[in-house]
Amino acid sequence: MTESTKNATLTIDGNSYDLPIYSPTTGPDVIDIRKLYSSAGVFTYDPGFTSTASCDSTITFIDGDKGELLHRGYPIDQLASKSHYLEVCYLLLYGALPTAAELEDFEGTITRHTMIHEQMHNFFRGFRRDAHPMATMVGVVGAMSAFYQDSSDIADPRQREIASHRMVAKMPTIAAMAYKYSIGQPFVYPRNDLDYASNFLHMCFSVPAEEYVVDPILARAMDRIFTLHADHEQNASTSTVRLASSSGANPFACIAAGIACLWGPAHGGANQACLEMLKEIGTPDRIPEYIARAKDKDDPFRLMGFGHRVYKNFDPRATVMKQSADEVLDLLGIENNPILQVAKELEAAALADPYFADKKLFPNVDFYSGIILEAMGLPTSMFTPIFAVSRTVGWISQWKEQFDDPQQKIGRPRQLYLGETERNYVDVENR
Ligand code: SDX
Repeated sequence: MTESTKNATLTIDGNSYDLPIYSPTTGPDVIDIRKLYSSAGVFTYDPGFTSTASCDSTITFIDGDKGELLHRGYPIDQLASKSHYLEVCYLLLYGALPTAAELEDFEGTITRHTMIHEQMHNFFRGFRRDAHPMATMVGVVGAMSAFYQDSSDIADPRQREIASHRMVAKMPTIAAMAYKYSIGQPFVYPRNDLDYASNFLHMCFSVPAEEYVVDPILARAMDRIFTLHADHEQNASTSTVRLASSSGANPFACIAAGIACLWGPAHGGANQACLEMLKEIGTPDRIPEYIARAKDKDDPFRLMGFGHRVYKNFDPRATVMKQSADEVLDLLGIENNPILQVAKELEAAALADPYFADKKLFPNVDFYSGIILEAMGLPTSMFTPIFAVSRTVGWISQWKEQFDDPQQKIGRPRQLYLGETERNYVDVENR
């Protein structure tokens, strides 16, 4: 925690309270209200945490007005074009870009943790084949503490590190197995001769009946999608992981909680919802109808993949994703993709509309990702699982950081109570 450089003064009923202000390395100052209740007997009120900093962090910074995203200070567009996902994982986990030797050692460690306990294969068979892969992932990841007791003791830094490596390494295997199970195909074991993204595609698309050779174009596109989704400050699922971890829950249970939260269509589920929306619109001539619905207060419909709590400018990930969509479809020889056409015309129409401009609603990371994933042959039900695979390193990095924070304590928000005051029980015959 930095030292306070100035104070805010709060006056309530003629009484003044000085609240320390801390300045970040970049971004808004924060007001420390931790002693407010004990000194002034009042709570602050911030449903949805629109103006609340929940922790210190050195991992990721977003400037929503500029549309900037930094991971340990490195801009996301540079990482997406010059780095690759496992190197970004190292950066998020350890705070610096690795030397060649460090990277080789880290990639070797992750590669050798990609298999899951053979007994876990039976877990999948308890689900219906038509279960959403996110349901399977929540269940299987939540059960991992039953299979990896040797890395569940959160008090042991070495066990925390092993659990971190296991999570990053095994999530693609679990996601691919959830996909294979949903389509009735046999599980495919990971291969140590393939890079992270290629291994995932191989586990998704390989079948015993014939050799599957990973297309390097698809592998690069998959790796870039992993990089773009890796971490994003204190978003809903990361905050869920931190809150679960604050009670001392084991790392696998905390990640399972993060997967559950990410599933919602307002969060990571938006990539699936967005492609389904684009398909429902179908043709550019129907765009005005959907723009009107998105603006209609009485219609719960929202443009999926649009808007963001923090970005009030372009989401820099969406910019990279849009470029990647053009590249991948072109390289795959998919010309005039009607869904991409609808997406581009919908984006243009929304950005030209005062409703979206005034509310600073721009495409977010979920607007174009589904177009690429569908072109790669993945079903919409696998879009959010892929987001979860990528975000696991962000969840784990934030989880690790929380342990190193001397201020960390169990998270326990208060409330503005609007219910009944005390009253006596009434027997049923007198009601
Ligand atoms: C992710 O937090 C993160 O960092 C998340 C994420 C990450 O990497 O972890 O970036 C990933 O979750 C991206 C967001 C994916 N969700 C969607 O694309 C779903 C559609 N978008 C929205 O539901 C919404 O924009 C949110 C949930 C993303 C943000 O909602 P906020 O910040 O709570 O904003 P709000 O709901 O208060 O909206 C402000 C106004 C409202 O109008 P008014 O009540 O002020 O008149 O803008 C309107 C909203 O009705 N609005 C939209 C809209 N998003 C907001 N109107 C139409 N379409 C939309 N998409």
